[in-house]
Amino acid sequence: MTLHGRSFLKECDFTPAEWASFVDLAEQLKAERRSGTERQRLIGKSIALIFEKTSTRTRCAFELAAFQQGAHTTYLDPSSSQIGHKESVADTARVLGRMFDGIEFRGDHQSDIEKLSERAGVPVFNGLTDEWHPTQMLADALTIREHTNKPFSDVAHAYLGDARFNTGRSLLVSSAMLGMDVRIVAPKEFQPDSEAIAIANQFAAQTGARITITDDVEAGVRGADAVSTDIWVSMGEPKEVWQDRVAALRDYQVSQKTMELTGNSKAIFMHCLPSFHDLETQVGRSVYELTGMNALEATDEVFEGPNSVVFDQAENRMHTIKAVMVATL
Ligand code: CP
Ligand code: NVA
Repeated sequence: MTLHGRSFLKECDFTPAEWASFVDLAEQLKAERRSGTERQRLIGKSIALIFEKTSTRTRCAFELAAFQQGAHTTYLDPSSSQIGHKESVADTARVLGRMFDGIEFRGDHQSDIEKLSERAGVPVFNGLTDEWHPTQMLADALTIREHTNKPFSDVAHAYLGDARFNTGRSLLVSSAMLGMDVRIVAPKEFQPDSEAIAIANQFAAQTGARITITDDVEAGVRGADAVSTDIWVSMGEPKEVWQDRVAALRDYQVSQKTMELTGNSKAIFMHCLPSFHDLETQVGRSVYELTGMNALEATDEVFEGPNSVVFDQAENRMHTIKAVMVATL
């Protein structure tokens, strides 16, 4: 199978076999890196990194993965380029497409990255939109493989919290593509939209994935091998929604009790990060003042506990983003 020249915009643009092949390649690249035998496959390539939203992991993963493979990156943030305020996405795409071999984009709208990809003439990589976060899903899959030692088809993966945004929607679809037993556990108004559910169901028919969408935490996490969550208020949402959001989602916090409800002492805790698990952040403190909660989507006990694999996940962003660039460029 060849992925050369393809853009990486959302999970469902790929077949399940293509999707799994990114994870396999990342595993191989990680092993090469670890053993000091990494071969540079992107020498002389150049990649533009457009970030309309802030980032720690995704930006660093793209920059470092490119460097390790011999490629160059140029970082563009909204305040230091013309994108959006003075120049349209379509025009920017044609400018950058003339100069670069690939373009990464993080922003609000999936429609923007789809437009970028139509006009750029080079592969475009989704570093997160409101709708999808596909590079995160490859890191999650690699982490699950490393920690469960099971084929994906035997893995039960529960996601708790806000499931209508990028991470929740992507997790549903990616898990279905990998044939998992996926459970989305959220109050009705925070469950994925019908489009995301339909995409996941279509893949499940091919892969044998089992899909459960429920507001029942106990039923949702029972037997889970992995329990994932994400922050409750995403980038681009106004801070005024915090109070209502906490009220709506507080029963979906991942606590030690939630982990025990899995009935699986080996169940891993996963989070794409950043996370509000203590009062060490400005946002964490201000939400505490508003609501009295000293941890939000996950307790500090779980986050810091022995089953937490969140920093392996973070490291795997680098190996999996490297796989995306190597496969497509
Ligand atoms: N998980 C993730 O995408 O992290 P950043 O926002 O730091 O890139
Ligand atoms: N849902 C989060 C993911 C951060 C990686 C956000 O969009 O802010």
